[in-house]
Amino acid sequence: QNKMASIKELAESGGLTSVPSEYTFASNPNDQADQHDPDHSMPTIDFSLLMSTSPDQRAKILHDLRKACEEWGFFMLINHGVPESLMKNMIDVCQGFFNLPEEEKKVYQSRNLLDPIKYGTSFNAEIDKVLLWRDFLKVISHPRFHSLPKPEGYSEVSLEFSKRIREVATELLRAISETLGLEADYIEKSMNWDQGFQMLAANYYPACPDPENAIGIPPHTDHGLLTILIQNGMGGLQVQHKGKWVNWNAIPNSLVVNLADHMQILTNDKYKSVWHRAVVNNRAPRISIAVPHGPSLETVVVAAPELVEKQGRPPAYKGLSYHDFLEYQQSAKCYMKSCLDAIR
Ligand code: SIN
Ligand code: FE2
Repeated sequence: QNKMASIKELAESGGLTSVPSEYTFASNPNDQADQHDPDHSMPTIDFSLLMSTSPDQRAKILHDLRKACEEWGFFMLINHGVPESLMKNMIDVCQGFFNLPEEEKKVYQSRNLLDPIKYGTSFNAEIDKVLLWRDFLKVISHPRFHSLPKPEGYSEVSLEFSKRIREVATELLRAISETLGLEADYIEKSMNWDQGFQMLAANYYPACPDPENAIGIPPHTDHGLLTILIQNGMGGLQVQHKGKWVNWNAIPNSLVVNLADHMQILTNDKYKSVWHRAVVNNRAPRISIAVPHGPSLETVVVAAPELVEKQGRPPAYKGLSYHDFLEYQQSAKCYMKSCLDAIR
């Protein structure tokens, strides 16, 4: 078996009735998401209210946002202004890429962390102990926008999509700064946001004959400040909340937002980077597009001094540039562990 083989090729060539041993990921039965737990009302944030000029409305939405950041670190964003047609087109052009013949996709296989365009399977197929049931396409879209000549439309659609999503991220960072009692532009300034990192990470999870025994993406936290995610009609995202895995049943056309490792470093553990994973299903392929947003690669991220002072406890993490953090993460030293533990 060629370790770099695409799981799409393998799963969709026909005749696969079980999960091949290299992909077998037996999850702990005690660790399954509870389908029927009524206790989990996932937070929904109405983005249009963040734009409100009424001080009362602004205060209320900031209160809700702070609560979502503290209690979940994940929320659904509605009325976000990103056109549904653009979201759908983005999913379609990514599907179009994965549908290209393997030889055309393979030219983007790469081992280098910061190559602007990377196609691959699993996470790092050369070192992964268990192969993941997903192929990926990762394209860096900021501070420099990169694109692909194929499929047709990818370039225009991904440019517009990356811009619109980044605008949403910028507004969210302003609001999040305010929920922390900081100036609205605090995070933008301290994280060198104008040179900030953004990547379009498309995941393709083929239908799987035995979904209990494979995994799309194992439990992890994201690097960066926050991730914004869209998906096709299929669910599969699960989020850890109060020690339990919860199926993230997203409202159609909402944006899924989660806080990430560098938000936790910056806020000195006030806002946590949340564990999540992607499970697979036996019905139809799932596509998700995760858009991580981070500081500029050179930024050495440390706890905000204003927060440290208010909290009265020292910074929990050593300063490390975002670039070096990414390098560490890519080395797979944090497989199913938090990279943050390494810099405590
Ligand atoms: C991710 O965590 O990067 C992707 C999760 C998903 O596909 O829902
Ligand atoms: Fe993630």
